[in-house]
Amino acid sequence: MKIVKILENIPPDSSQLLELYRTVGWLTFEDDTSIVEEILENTDEFVCIYMGDTLVAFGRMLTDYRMSAFLDDIVVHPGFRHMGFGSIIINILIEKVPKVKKIKLTTFNAAEFYKKFGFSNPSCTPMELILDQK
Ligand SMILES: CC(C)(COP(=O)(O)OP(=O)(O)OC[C@H]1O[C@@H](n2cnc3c(N)ncnc32)[C@H](O)[C@@H]1OP(=O)(O)O)[C@@H](O)C(=O)NCCC(=O)NCCS
Repeated sequence: MKIVKILENIPPDSSQLLELYRTVGWLTFEDDTSIVEEILENTDEFVCIYMGDTLVAFGRMLTDYRMSAFLDDIVVHPGFRHMGFGSIIINILIEKVPKVKKIKLTTFNAAEFYKKFGFSNPSCTPMELILDQK
């Protein structure tokens, strides 16, 4: 039986993280592992879950630790869903910001998952600016 490891803020192998992103069709970075490394360097908090040596779940948070935080890239490998890994990641990340007033996120298809933690639809209109930058 493979051992499950939960590591906080220890960068995963960037190729493994890209592979995990690919399982859910997040192909934004294509094969550029250096972009993944840059993102992790500038991310405040992240959690990796390994089954043996394989990265099976990941999530990250950007925050000022006082007012607001933003959850991003919460992903569990399709072969390892409904085992509680996504919930473990969310709970760990929420515990990292005990003084924060609001945690934000965007989701296309997992709203029901986030509602279990108390997330609700925002009273304001979320907006974004897409930039075509290298
Ligand atoms: C959403 C996601 C992270 C959940 O991870 P997970 O490890 O399967 O979650 P858990 O095992 O902790 O789930 C606990 C419960 O949340 C609910 N849940 C899980 N995934 C859900 C989803 N996609 N939609 C609605 N509810 C969901 C279920 O009630 C589940 O209980 P169950 O296992 O008894 O059915 C995972 O499905 C995933 O990676 N999806 C693709 C990427 C994605 O959409 N990420 C969110 C982007 S913001």
